[in-house]
Amino acid sequence: MHIIILGGPGSGKGTQSEKIIKSFSLKHLSTGDMLRDEIYRQTDLGQKAKIVIDKGNLVSNEIILEMVANKLKQIDKGILFDGFPRTIAQAEGLDELLAKNSSSIRGVILLKVNNEELVKRMRGGGRTNDNEETIYNRVSVFESETKPLIEFYQQQNKLIEIDGMGTIDDIFSRIEAELSYQ
Ligand code: AP5
Ligand code: MG
Repeated sequence: MHIIILGGPGSGKGTQSEKIIKSFSLKHLSTGDMLRDEIYRQTDLGQKAKIVIDKGNLVSNEIILEMVANKLKQIDKGILFDGFPRTIAQAEGLDELLAKNSSSIRGVILLKVNNEELVKRMRGGGRTNDNEETIYNRVSVFESETKPLIEFYQQQNKLIEIDGMGTIDDIFSRIEAELSYQ
């Protein structure tokens, strides 16, 4: 079972992912974590990605899809995709990659959190490099690049809408209840 967790920047994807993978025995694949690892190791990719990430923009689809394709070769169980796909091109690329293994996405969890709360959470525990400009740009990039994925997966009847407001445990209970039907 492959699942995607979708939501704005700071919506709680990483937080909920940790709980979901334990409860449903999935492998966590976070492109944000993978990029941060490249930055930490100061690879060529990491150095290029840092400039883009610090502005709150998206790393190119080509780089992301290549990174994910390499990772998929190492995983032989159900995956929880976190922070990926972020564009329609990435979603189509993912479908192609999975189709090679006669596999597909079962469901897409959408964490619904209003923009005011997103900004609050990003300011609160977010990345130290993020200034106000970057925070607002991340929200605006989500609106323009990533939100079209909601309709993309709705049309495929894969969207699982979750109220992402409230306590971490309450939100997880909602997700758990929905995924148990999948
Ligand atoms: P990525 O790491 O994916 O960033 P993000 O998901 O946009 O933002 P966060 O990870 O900060 O938020 P989150 O939703 O995981 O929330 P979290 O659980 O941390 O990507 C980073 C960058 O890399 C991107 O901006 C882009 O440049 C690049 N990138 C990554 N993937 C890419 C891709 N596929 N294509 C192109 N570029 C890509 O929670 C946030 C905070 O809120 C925490 O402090 C948490 O403790 C708190 N919190 C969580 N839940 C609650 C709650 N219920 N109530 C109160 N506080 C809460
Ligand atoms: Mg995250």
